[in-house]
Amino acid sequence: MTTTPPSAEPAQRTPLVVRTRPELQDAQMRWALTGPVEGAEAGPGQRAVVMTMGALHEGHLELVRQARTEAGPNGQVVVTIFVNPLQFGAGEDLDTYPRDLDGDVAKLAGVGADVVFAPTPDVVYPDGDPVVRVSAGRIGEVLEGASRPGHLDGVLTVVLKLMHLVRPDVALFGEKDAQQLLAVRRMVRDLEVPVEVVGVPTVREADGLAMSSRNAYLAPEERERALALSRALRAGAAAADRGAPGVINDAREVLDGADGVVVDYLALVDPVTVDAVTDDFSGPALLLVAARVGSTRLIDNQAVEVSPEVQR
Ligand code: PAJ
Repeated sequence: MTTTPPSAEPAQRTPLVVRTRPELQDAQMRWALTGPVEGAEAGPGQRAVVMTMGALHEGHLELVRQARTEAGPNGQVVVTIFVNPLQFGAGEDLDTYPRDLDGDVAKLAGVGADVVFAPTPDVVYPDGDPVVRVSAGRIGEVLEGASRPGHLDGVLTVVLKLMHLVRPDVALFGEKDAQQLLAVRRMVRDLEVPVEVVGVPTVREADGLAMSSRNAYLAPEERERALALSRALRAGAAAADRGAPGVINDAREVLDGADGVVVDYLALVDPVTVDAVTDDFSGPALLLVAARVGSTRLIDNQAVEVSPEVQR
């Protein structure tokens, strides 16, 4: 039962927290019958979902605000909070990943979420690890996929399951995880999933650091070092008129000059295929970086409009 006063604006409501499939279905059914607020007109309005692993920050909240806009005042905004074991490799931070459901729900109260679906692993995977899974194909084998084998397959499998459980019209994902967004878009196209995927630009701290739940792991001096990632991307983007080699070169220079930043990859890729672009490439591309600062692995990316390299 929601404790929400019927007159509250969507953005002010405290979300209803559901943890099981029957509770989620009940919330969906009631919304279909009466709209999100007792007495409000049912529809038109869409159901929008924001899927997260919790430890919410301003980047997540921006997705929820945009979900509210997509859904409309009579629509329903569902936020899922689930640390998905399937997408963590051996030795990764599954056990230590920050978890704070009460804090997350409090943050969501002001931004327009109607329902928080926070299942436990046995609710999502009642039969244990799924035998049949979604494969990201070659998108899952490069960049993040090369460093974290099976990661994107695990992401797509849970995203598709959550789409089936929540049944959204619209699903919002951050451009911060560019390869994930690309893989989700591709899954939706390739498997005819009836959901509109909306990408939301990366939310950054004032000094350029892309917001991430994993930033919480950084000691103050590591956080300072981590700025090299966004600085490298800006330097690369600023060299767009010197062609693809110029972009990579200038971004690489910043990373090479940064202490305590161990680069995993720096790549300029086609934003649809994720294939590395050739030296003579021109057009829209994506500059991606992954690096370890201390024991924390960080990723960031930036869109770059590459000009053809002028022969000098
Ligand atoms: P998580 O890392 O919690 O991110 C949830 C969503 O928030 C993703 O769509 C992510 O791209 C977006 N996001 C994170 N930081 C952002 C930022 N600084 N600016 C904009 N958007 C940002 O990504 C996942 O969880 C999981 O893989 C998930 C999709 C939930 C599947 O388990």
